[in-house]
Amino acid sequence: MRTWFRFLVLLKPYRGRLIVTFLATLSRPLLNAAKIYLLKLIVDNLVAQPTGPVVLWICGGYLAIALLKGGANYLDQYQGAYIGGRVVIDLRHQLFARLLRLSLHYHHDHRVGESVSRLISDVGAVEDVLVAGITDGTTQALTIFVFATMLFYLDPFLAAISLLVLPFLFVSLALYARRSRLASREVRTRLSELTATVEEVLSAIVLVKSFVRFSHEEQRFRERGEQHWQARLDAARQRAIFTPLSDIIATVGTVLVVYFGAQALAAGTLTIGGLVIFLAYLGQLYNPLLSLSRLGNTMQSGLAAAERVAALLDLSKDHDEPSAALLPRSTLLKAYHPPYRIVESAITFEHVFFSYKPGRTILRDFNLTVPRGAIVGLVGASGGGKSTAIALLQRFYDPDAGRITVFGYDIRQFETTELRHYMAVVPQEITLFMGSIRENIAYGRLDADHNTILRAAQQAGILEMKLADGLDTLIGPRGTKLSGGQRQRVAIARALVRQAPILIFDEATSALDSLSEEKIRSTLDTLRGQHTVLLIAHRLSTVRTADLIAVVEQGHVVEMGSHEELLQRNGAYATLVRGQCTTDIAKQATIVLPHLS
Ligand SMILES: Nc1ncnc2c1ncn2[C@@H]1O[C@H](COP(=O)(O)OP(=O)(O)O)[C@@H](O)[C@H]1O
Ligand SMILES: [Mg+2]
Repeated sequence: MRTWFRFLVLLKPYRGRLIVTFLATLSRPLLNAAKIYLLKLIVDNLVAQPTGPVVLWICGGYLAIALLKGGANYLDQYQGAYIGGRVVIDLRHQLFARLLRLSLHYHHDHRVGESVSRLISDVGAVEDVLVAGITDGTTQALTIFVFATMLFYLDPFLAAISLLVLPFLFVSLALYARRSRLASREVRTRLSELTATVEEVLSAIVLVKSFVRFSHEEQRFRERGEQHWQARLDAARQRAIFTPLSDIIATVGTVLVVYFGAQALAAGTLTIGGLVIFLAYLGQLYNPLLSLSRLGNTMQSGLAAAERVAALLDLSKDHDEPSAALLPRSTLLKAYHPPYRIVESAITFEHVFFSYKPGRTILRDFNLTVPRGAIVGLVGASGGGKSTAIALLQRFYDPDAGRITVFGYDIRQFETTELRHYMAVVPQEITLFMGSIRENIAYGRLDADHNTILRAAQQAGILEMKLADGLDTLIGPRGTKLSGGQRQRVAIARALVRQAPILIFDEATSALDSLSEEKIRSTLDTLRGQHTVLLIAHRLSTVRTADLIAVVEQGHVVEMGSHEELLQRNGAYATLVRGQCTTDIAKQATIVLPHLS
């Protein structure tokens, strides 16, 4: 129940409409009662005097009640849909905003499809019961109250008898509620797994085709489908048992009333008219009782969905991105822009230790100083922790020990959102959105004008690509219509357009040919001085002209210096260079220089 109360807040902005809906639904039991009362008028008056104005009154009464009921139904349905729809939008928005801000730990542990399922289908289920639950629930309760009062007014003895079955109804409902909720929870979980499977397989469609894994994926999908079906069947069985059971209990009540009513009839304490009306009212009492208990069940399945939504909203603060705002917003700006220039280093890593999961240290005593305005290359075997260092720099995670500074300030002193404004990253895994190249570049800076975008595109070598519609070429979902190298160029343009003081390239030119890479490197050279560039590269030729090169081995910077210095030192870097020479150049060289092989 507590879960429900938190969602009630969502209804607050729609109080007025809710009251209208509420009144409309409330008028229904009253109109029903009035309609039945007309029956009594017929029995009482028409039997004695079949003609006259009373007939007209009764006919008019029926019509008036029908009109009022129609109006009430209209208000109830329309306003109900209005409020329900708004609640869905509000709740989805809240949940989506939360999802975006959850830490990468969360996102790397959960499949996209699961979150989609919570956002779409679970939120929908919450709506189904939230509005209906409140309006229907209270009207049914009111109806029960109205008709129970009428029954006691008509015949207290029979009324007491008819209510004897109530406890049985409640007990069966209570027994059923828990099982129903568990079953519904299972249905929800299975459904979200089904969604996640579809999402996963379709985003890997090329892989599926290439490895011809159609039947394997079909099998997997079918299994998920069967599991979902099984869960639904279990839930349906619960319903199938409970609904007839409650009908039977209600019928027992009617039977009791008929039996004792007949006795009262024989004893002459009750008229036949009285018994008929009593039974009519009793029907009206049991109906809402049954609907109320059925509503209880629907609420249970809605509750299962609501719990899943609430679980996401309630994830503890640990799941949020790290954040803090100890220093005013303009601090970084002042540290960076002339005439303030107060520090010489743009980025420092000071004795940084980090592990994604306890027990497996990725960065150990990682130290790195990137001077302002310099181009610094980061090289080393893959898995060494280079991308991890970049993730920490953007504060996707916080170090376990040590600190990272940007323009002389510990990055933990800023809001993450502000910190990231000062960086433009071309990540190792390129992500593009469906849309045009222009839109994808502008993602780096939403207010960029045409010329800015054009310049970035030119610097990244996009204008040389053979494109059907220039910058307006559509690139397909996730940029699937581009080649790997083209995707990288778009990502580079997206970073350049940001015009951020710090530029980070994480193996951003790995898919480019040497000529294109050369061009981008010369672009970076022009940025020297105004921008600080961190260049992670696998190909050593990429970083050769960098001001400084740092070699990362197993989470530790083992060497740092310029290309020449490091070659002279004849250490790790020199070994790397020799390795690449033998693989890249010497292999080709074997043709011309056979004595090498
Ligand atoms: N999200 C993650 N969760 C757990 N381990 C990770 C995650 N990302 C990377 N790693 C691990 O961290 C190590 C360093 O990875 P990474 O920083 O990507 O290396 P590099 O960029 O130098 O190739 C690898 O052993 C990898 O398995
Ligand atoms: Mg990497």
